[in-house]
Amino acid sequence: MARRVTVPSFVAQKGNRRLVCLTAYDVLTAGILDEAGVDLILVGDSLGNVVLGHETTLPVTLEQMISHAGAVMRAKPKALVIADMPFLTFQVNPEDTLRNAGRLIQEAGVDGVKIEGPRSEHVRMLVQAGIPVMGHIGLTPQSVLELGGFRVQGRTPEAAEALLEEAKALERAGCFSLVLESVPAPVAERVTRAISIPTIGIGAGRGCDGQILVITDLLGMSPTTPRFVRRYADVRQVIHDAVGRYAEDVRADRFPGPDETYPE
Ligand code: KIV
Repeated sequence: MARRVTVPSFVAQKGNRRLVCLTAYDVLTAGILDEAGVDLILVGDSLGNVVLGHETTLPVTLEQMISHAGAVMRAKPKALVIADMPFLTFQVNPEDTLRNAGRLIQEAGVDGVKIEGPRSEHVRMLVQAGIPVMGHIGLTPQSVLELGGFRVQGRTPEAAEALLEEAKALERAGCFSLVLESVPAPVAERVTRAISIPTIGIGAGRGCDGQILVITDLLGMSPTTPRFVRRYADVRQVIHDAVGRYAEDVRADRFPGPDETYPE
């Protein structure tokens, strides 16, 4: 029986082996990912895009995150489960940040939270309260309005330097791990070498300590995907074909058949 992944056992893998991370938003998917042996499941606020159909992650609420994170936890995963703190749940005063993070821990039962951006003060406060925090720098989708779009970050020497300093500050503040999103591979590699907590890349090349993708991108369910995604399946087509065959059978009176019918 495999043991549950804990924050310390996750961190201990830096330099030993690559960490495998994926997003999930529901109990079924979380159960499958866990059976497949992922190290970390992120209940990302990408929920807003891939499940709820929004253009950005900005409309996602704390209630929605608690509900979906709770569903993921009901799969009883061995993987470490981290939930995103959605927009305006931590860009507020310290008391509300702590209360909001606490709700994800107490009501959904996750193992920690992820917050976007260079927010060392918030991280320090949460960590002091006993809440593990994953940082997230580079492209931070909750800042899309400020960034002017979903663009690769850290491209100039100054921006790369700033990213490195943000990473070091977040480590000092107590983050147990750091997502690096959409940054040039050499910059991600430099950050990874400069800090002692695991970096988890998405669109950040191979030099990170682990990788994360949005599950619907990996499965080929999303209609379009960014350049950094590898589609490992064409589940969109599988669903399309299955539903098409079901529709044909219903219309031709071939479903249900005798085996799918209760006699008397
Ligand atoms: O919300 C999310 O899914 C994320 C990952 C892309 C890292 O933050």
